[in-house]
Amino acid sequence: MSELSVQHLLGIKYLQPSDIELIFETAAHFKEVINRPIKKVPSLRDTTIANIFFENSTRTKLSFELAQKRLSADVISFSAAQSSVKKGETLIDTVNNILAMKVDMVVMRHAHPGAALFLSQNVKASIINAGDGAHEHPTQGLLDSFTLREKLGDLAGKKVVIVGDILHSRVALSNIYALQMLGAEVKVCGPKTLIPRYVASLGVQVESDLRKALNWCDAANMLRVQNERMDVSYFPSTREYVQRYGVDKSLLESLDKEIVIMHPGPINRGVEITSEVADSHQSVILDQVENGVAIRMAVIYLLAAKIQ
Ligand code: CP
Repeated sequence: MSELSVQHLLGIKYLQPSDIELIFETAAHFKEVINRPIKKVPSLRDTTIANIFFENSTRTKLSFELAQKRLSADVISFSAAQSSVKKGETLIDTVNNILAMKVDMVVMRHAHPGAALFLSQNVKASIINAGDGAHEHPTQGLLDSFTLREKLGDLAGKKVVIVGDILHSRVALSNIYALQMLGAEVKVCGPKTLIPRYVASLGVQVESDLRKALNWCDAANMLRVQNERMDVSYFPSTREYVQRYGVDKSLLESLDKEIVIMHPGPINRGVEITSEVADSHQSVILDQVENGVAIRMAVIYLLAAKIQ
């Protein structure tokens, strides 16, 4: 297959396994490009992309901007906090005004699940979801699986546990879809209050004992506790969370085998994982960030090819 089956990247749910393979193949090529002395290709010289972020971001926003610049696209970036959204302008009006400036593609992060899908149905541009509330974060799901495949080889039959705040996580759902499409087995582990009911319907098992979960898996993706999305207490105290669901060096070293440690960032050091674990040779956290640029270049390049 040489083209994507979709016009937008709204979620991993909408992709075919062959789309993921094409994105990975293209990302591997771009990873080689960005490790050359001249890191830029002229592929998207005629494409203009707007990055519109209604929620905070460090990695995703900078990674998309860099990916676009490496492809020679023209880029404009918009932060809702400094925009006329604050004066009451609607999402569709805001985006249509940006598109009137001859923009071809929109990368959007928004607090509301379904915001990217809504936009794709109401404006004429290619839309990339950079995270919609607690729903999906498809480029994160792709870069996580790409990084794991680099580390573990073919993911068919590999075991991955996603640990922590699954309920408020868009990374969890995108990872579950991507890993399952690639043939991996997925479990989740965390406080009962932070495990959504939908996981069972996705064929994902819940393991409440962290040591058991870590002894089962080849890789653990340690999710951030999203305090900013919690209107009530989901566990008694941070101290108790750390005792039951945090990973430190002694726990890691006491396991039956060496596992890969992932984290989408930003890390609450000393909560999900200690600094020793984050900075250990088992951690691929900075590989995830590096691969994010190549994955986003691949997604943008392949979607740009579908713009009429
Ligand atoms: N992983 C991730 O989405 O990080 P940011 O919120 O910093 O973009």
